[in-house]
Amino acid sequence: MPKLGVNIDHIATLRQQRKIGYPSIIEAAKIVESCGAHQVTVHLREDRRHIQDEDVLQLKKILKIPFNLEMSLNNEIVEFALKVKPDEVCIVPERRQELTTEGGLDLEKNYKRVKSVVSQLKQRGIIVSLFIEPEIKSVLLAKELGADAVELHTGRYSLCKVGTKKFYFELNRIKKASKIVIEQGLILNAGHGLDYNNVKYISIIKGMNTLNIGFSIVARAVFVGLEKAIKEMLKLVTV
Ligand code: PXP
Repeated sequence: MPKLGVNIDHIATLRQQRKIGYPSIIEAAKIVESCGAHQVTVHLREDRRHIQDEDVLQLKKILKIPFNLEMSLNNEIVEFALKVKPDEVCIVPERRQELTTEGGLDLEKNYKRVKSVVSQLKQRGIIVSLFIEPEIKSVLLAKELGADAVELHTGRYSLCKVGTKKFYFELNRIKKASKIVIEQGLILNAGHGLDYNNVKYISIIKGMNTLNIGFSIVARAVFVGLEKAIKEMLKLVTV
């Protein structure tokens, strides 16, 4: 049964609009826990546009369920993660101007740096995941680099209208890559852009471990509340 990691970045996005302390990321994390979701995920971006260092420190202190920190290969952030020691780190590519994480890591180009960061994090007992495109080549490189897990980028899939030819093409890419992930003995996670319409095709993929979902849940929470939004997603994920 797949697990749901709730990404609460966009609670912080809203908070940062006014910078007067609410809505509280800690209150959100407690709701994630009480709903029975399996993990809290946040992305500490280099530009600190939503999650702040202090959020990460507080979450580490209060969370009873696993804490997954998404981060780039930036030296200062890697040092911070090594100090904080979240349960899991997902290494992602990052560009300042992007609205959200575009594309997976280029493991060939960043080979040496990724290898070194993976090794440092693992030495601290942190589970290390690499955010990659659903491509066989990237899965094999992730294995070679010593990652424990990969998170397959579902962004391209999520942009397709459910049921179209393009949708099934992208779904197939994810299924093929997933098979290799399992064959390589890596933990299989996926995320980005998943919503209430497109998630169920991904959650039934054999061996799927965790789906990290943020924007669609927070957007739905605006109308129905965070608790209901998470519980609705949990039903679709835990099939
Ligand atoms: N997984 C990773 C690695 C991400 O970078 C993000 C976005 O921060 C997500 C999952 C969540 O994506 P979304 O907010 O579109 O659900």
